[in-house]
This record gives sequence, structure tokens and C-alpha cells, in this order.
Amino acid sequence: MKPMGPIPPFFDAHSDALRIAGQTAESLVNLAGGSPAFIYDFGIVRQRIAGLRAALPPEIGISYAVKANPYAPLVQAMSPLVEGMDVASSGELALVLAAGVTDISFAGPGKRDADLRAAILADAVINLESVGEAQRALAIAQQMGRRPRLAVRINPDFGLKGSGLQMAGGAQPFGVDVDRVPALVRGLLDAGADWQGFHLFAGSQSLIATAIADMHGAALVLCGALAAAVGVRPNRVTIGAGFGVPYAAGEKDLDLMPIGNALDKALRQRPAGLQGSQIVLEMGRYLVAECGVYLTRILDRKLSHDRLFLVVDGGLHHQLAAAGLFGSVVRRNFPLALASQFAAADAETATIVGCLCTPLDRLADQVRLPRAEIGDLVAVFLAGAYGATASPSAFLGHGPAREVLIG
Ligand SMILES: Cc1ncc(COP(=O)(O)O)c(C=O)c1O
Repeated sequence: MKPMGPIPPFFDAHSDALRIAGQTAESLVNLAGGSPAFIYDFGIVRQRIAGLRAALPPEIGISYAVKANPYAPLVQAMSPLVEGMDVASSGELALVLAAGVTDISFAGPGKRDADLRAAILADAVINLESVGEAQRALAIAQQMGRRPRLAVRINPDFGLKGSGLQMAGGAQPFGVDVDRVPALVRGLLDAGADWQGFHLFAGSQSLIATAIADMHGAALVLCGALAAAVGVRPNRVTIGAGFGVPYAAGEKDLDLMPIGNALDKALRQRPAGLQGSQIVLEMGRYLVAECGVYLTRILDRKLSHDRLFLVVDGGLHHQLAAAGLFGSVVRRNFPLALASQFAAADAETATIVGCLCTPLDRLADQVRLPRAEIGDLVAVFLAGAYGATASPSAFLGHGPAREVLIG
């Protein structure tokens, strides 16, 4: 069978059954305790990080955005491989603290007082999203008798081209508009806070290397100008990397070399205000998307009019993104394969639907597959990011999928 879509190159495509880190899908479902299950092959994460390190200038730090996949064993395994982690809630903060992570940042609008308190107590860098949040953080730190580590998230005037998710440019709930940043930083310094620098996240899931490189360059120029306006060197500048992964047929892997080369040049020409500042790229999806395979079992084959439906025991309650409902404007089939018949020739066209009684629960629309039998396992690839925890697992009460880390 020719797997549809850009199947990651890490899996054994030549044997009769899909193998993930050398193990069959069936044995991994057993290991997980049943289907549906997310299998995360950590060997792939190691390869992704090694590839990144090889392409980026050595002084660039990497911060893992835990929101992409907060599965505790994965976070634990990732901890020695990255310089830091970014969290979006006090729940994620507790998770990374338990994994022994010491360099933590906390971004996201709507931090509650309890979140700010937990972050200050943990000495995490709080990426301030507004002037009001800055005032609350300062007041809470004063009550606690602690010096908070604060950074300012900038809402730049530019976005990221080709981004599946624009999070900057124009009116935004995220970050502080550029013209308000210098006064806010001066206020933090006057209040005696430990000002750490700037954070900027312009967008996500871009596969256009030149657009990403341009965004990184513009971010460094902007942060340099703001540092000059403030008159104090930021300790750190964190840039949302914007790196995407190919989900759909025809999309290609991101070419890291031009991004690394452009960063290298930008670092050599870095503005005076950023001399000595640590530059960090923050990312989630790029590190973990490809390590994950979602395995779900076929429960039923049915014909309706002229269509064959394969009904599986999983669905959008675990893999909302594969149903086209998370992070995509247009629904496109995720790469998937019939794990139990990996090498068999295509024999039929099927629509794969989940077990939820909503027409939205479609994992694949009219795809060519080998003849599928009830009991066969379907593998949905690129399931390592924004899967299990980005899907409504409580909907209809089927419960969450199992998760296993191997490799
Ligand atoms: C502040 C912040 N950092 C990091 C990320 C991770 O983005 P990605 O998984 O695309 O790398 C996001 C995603 O929305 C974000 O909002």
C-alpha cells in the first residue's frame, strides 16, 4: 500500500505491517492496554532536536512549548535536551517542575492571580501580555516578598507569512502593542522587578523558510530598537519559531538551512541593544508532531448508497486536528495508513469515521486503502502535537485515548 499523505520518513514502510521503533502496531496497542492509543516514539524527537541543532547557530537556545504535547513521560524525556520549557497554565507549570525543568517561561492571556503566584514562587519568567497583568504580577510579588522575573510579550506590527495560525499584527489579545512596550519596561525596572527581556510569537505552522527567516530577522531588529528605547540590555529574547510540519499531500518538509543561515547572519549583525542577550527559539509542534501515531481499530464496515464507511473506535474526541477542526482553515486528510495491511495493494475507497454521532467525526474522507477488515488498526500519523490534550475527550463519554512513550 502506498500510504497517503506525507508519511514521516521514520517508519518502516517496507514490511507487511507498520512498525514503530521496530514494534508492530498490534503489539504497541497491547502495550498501551488497548485501542485507541497514541504511541510516541521518542527516538524521533531526538532526531528532530539533533537536526535542529545541526542547522541552527550553536548559541541559539531551544524552548519546548509544552502545550504541543504535555504527556508527562515525554516532557520528562525532553527536559535534558532543551534549554527551557514554556507553559501556558499553572497545571503545565506543575508538570514541568515535576520533570525537573528549571528554566521555565509562562505565556498566555488570562493568567489568574493563582497562576501568577505559582509562577513567581517557581521563579518562572512571566511573559506579560498586558499592562494590567504587569500591575497584578508586581502587586502579587510584593505581597509575597519576592522579586518577580518578568518579560514583556510584544505584539509586533508584522505577522508570519504562510502561517496556519496568525498571532500577531493588528489588534490582538496577545502581547503588548509596540508603542506601549518601552514605558511598560521602564515601569517594571522602576518597580524593582527582575526584567528578563522580550517575548514575541508571530505565528505558527509555516512551511515557508524565507518567511520564517524574515520574521526572525524582523523580530531581532524590533527587539533591538525597543532595548535601545529602554536603555537596558535584555537578558533574553524569545521568538516563537513559527516552524511547521507537512500534513497534507504536496507539502514538503521545512528546509532548516536557510533559516539557520539567516539567523547566523542576523546574530553577527545584531543590534547594539542586544549584544550579549541570549536568543531562544520557542516551539512545540516541530519537535513532537512526527513522533506520534494514533492507532484506532475498525469496528464496522458499512455501505451507504455508493460509499464505504469504516467506523473506528476512536475519533475527533482524541484527534480533533485530523478531523480538520483544530489549527486548519480547510479540512484536509491527515496522512494515515492501514497499519495491519501496510504493504498490501490499494483495493477500495473508504471514508473513515469515528465513533461519535456527529458528521464532524471524520478521520479521512474518500481515501484509497487496501481491503480493510473489521479488527484492523488504522494509523493516523503526525499525531504527536495538539492531539490528546487538544481534543474534547470528555465529549460523549467514550473517555480519553491511552498514551505510551517508547524509543
Ligand atoms: C506563546 C506560544 N508559544 C509557543 C507555541 C507553540 O507553537 P508551535 O507548536 O506551532 O511551535 C504557541 C502556539 O500557539 C504559543 O501560543
